[in-house]
Amino acid sequence: MENWKITGATRVWVHVSHPAAKTVSTALLNKTFRERDLDVVAVAIDVAPDDMPSLIRGMKGWRNLVGMGVTMPHKEQIALVCDELVGLAKVMKAVNIIRRDPDGRLIGGNSDGSGFVTGLRRAGYEPAGKRVLLVGAGGASAAVAFALAEAGVRDLVVANRTAAKAEQIAARVTQAFPNIPTTVGPLDPTDFDIVVNTTPLGMREGDALPLDISLLTPQMIVADIIVKPARTPLLEAAEQRGCRIQPGLPMLTCQIDEVLAFLRLGQP
Ligand code: ATR
Repeated sequence: MENWKITGATRVWVHVSHPAAKTVSTALLNKTFRERDLDVVAVAIDVAPDDMPSLIRGMKGWRNLVGMGVTMPHKEQIALVCDELVGLAKVMKAVNIIRRDPDGRLIGGNSDGSGFVTGLRRAGYEPAGKRVLLVGAGGASAAVAFALAEAGVRDLVVANRTAAKAEQIAARVTQAFPNIPTTVGPLDPTDFDIVVNTTPLGMREGDALPLDISLLTPQMIVADIIVKPARTPLLEAAEQRGCRIQPGLPMLTCQIDEVLAFLRLGQP
């Protein structure tokens, strides 16, 4: 949008976190809003958990508010006060995006894991019917697990250093998707179609590899959700062994499209 100015007609997207100074999604969204000629501005706001109830009340009457992005530590708390949860937010009971409808209703969604699945599909890798090994069991792992189950994988095995956390994810996914066998298993990729690293191993130089790469075989797709570096040592090693690889960045960029669609804002 040439000569774009923030005016009285500009609508607002807020990204709430605590603290907020390290937010990166607002810059990405502002760039996207400009590229797509949308008169919307994204702003990061710092709100502590105790002050969230008054923010939520205020949002309902904030007529030029498009919606809100939500991050730690608010994702579960905010799911309880939305007027409606849709899609994966409903089964995860956690919200990372909220749309404010014109009548003031707040609709909660969750795009954390669906960006991963969209990224895989855009790369030509359809996860439906595939056997998936998920390495790690943190917050991001849970989001990816739910999205893969929703996508209709054949089965999902969660391998994690702390078994109790893997069990928790497996139990939650099983409750939401009883037809998708989801279990806890060893860190062994043998016979899997898709292997996803959701641990931070590979972010820092000198990190150990998240799994034994000698067990990777060429028919596997090996994915990482780490964005920096763009190609982790795991991905490099997997490619050398003839696997197809999926880096972390598409999960992030595809989420932008998910967010715009959820907000019912224009597509390119
Ligand atoms: P979150 O996504 O909740 O912020 P995280 O600290 O980023 O969590 O860790 C994500 C996952 O990577 C966790 O499952 C963690 O294992 P634990 O549940 O045992 O803590 C795993 N992880 C982190 N560092 C690891 C390491 N050095 N070796 C193996 N797994 C690791």
